[in-house]
Amino acid sequence: MPHLLTSVEDGVLRLTLNRPDKKNALTNAMYGELAAALERAESEPQIRAVLFEAEGDAFTAGNDLGDFAAVAAGTLAREDMKSSNFLSALARAQKPYVAAVQGLAVGVGTTMLMHCDLVYIAEDAKLTTPFVNLALVPEAASSWLLPARIGYARAFAMFALGEPVDGKTAAAIGIANQALPKHEVRAKALAAAKALATRPAGALAATKRLMRDAQAIQTRMTQEGEIFGARLKSAEAAEALRAFAERRTPDFSKIIGE
Ligand code: COA
Repeated sequence: MPHLLTSVEDGVLRLTLNRPDKKNALTNAMYGELAAALERAESEPQIRAVLFEAEGDAFTAGNDLGDFAAVAAGTLAREDMKSSNFLSALARAQKPYVAAVQGLAVGVGTTMLMHCDLVYIAEDAKLTTPFVNLALVPEAASSWLLPARIGYARAFAMFALGEPVDGKTAAAIGIANQALPKHEVRAKALAAAKALATRPAGALAATKRLMRDAQAIQTRMTQEGEIFGARLKSAEAAEALRAFAERRTPDFSKIIGE
C-alpha cells in the first residue's frame, strides 16, 4: 500500500498518511509526495482546500529517524532531503489547510499544525516536539510560530524538555480549534474542509495571505534548516539516533556541547 493516499472529494484534496505500522513516520519519499500533492493543490482550481489526516492510532511520529541517521552517516545528502520541499510548500500555501489529529503528533507532526488554518484534534492526542532530546533544533518556522501561538514558556518546555501537550490543552491554548472524541475527529475535519471549499476561493486566499507573513516564515525556515543540518551531523545527534535504534536512553553526559 502507498504510504500517502490522495483523493479529491467535493473540492477537498485529502492527504492521508498511511504507514500506521511505523506510526506514520515520514520518510523522504513521503515528504516528496506530500510536497508534490501541495503543489498540485495550488495549481488545480477544482481543489479548494487540503485535508491532512492519518490512518491508524497515530497522526505521525515525525521524521523517519532512519533517514536522519542516513543524513548523519552521509548516505543521504542533505540536498536530497525532500522535507525542505514540504516545508517550503507549507510556507507558500495559498489554499486553506485543515488537519485531523489523533494519537501522537511528534516533531513535524506538531509543527506542521502551525501551517494549518483549522485543526481538529482528539481529546487524548499527544503533541510533542522533542527536538532538543534528539540534539536537534525546531523546524517549520516553529521556533517563531509556536512561542507566538502559545507563549515562550510553554513552547520552550515543549522544545527543550519534550513536554507533551494533550488534545484538550491544545484546543485551550490555541493550537487546535476543537478537541473531540477520537472517533469524531476525521469526520469533523472533513466537514470543515468541505465547508471551506464552498467559500469564495479568492477571498479565502487573500485572508490567508493577510493573516500570515509567508516571506518571514520562509526566512525562518531557511535559518532553522541551516542549523538543523549542522546539528544532524553532531556527535550529540549521533548518540541520540543510536540510542533510538538501540531502544535505550541517550547519554549526552560525556559529549561537550559543540
Ligand atoms: N522513525 C522511524 N521509525 C519510527 C519512528 C520514527 N520517527 N517512530 C516510530 N517508529 C517505528 C518504531 O521503530 C517501531 O518500528 P518496529 O515495529 O519495526 O520496531 C514502530 O514504528 C512502532 O513504534 P514503537 O516505538 O514500537 O511504538 P510506541 O508506541 O512504543 O512509541 C513513539 C511510539 C512515537 C513514542 C516512539 O516510536 C518514538 O519515540 N519515536 C520517535 C519519534 C521521534 O523522535 N520523531 C522525530 C521527531 S523530530
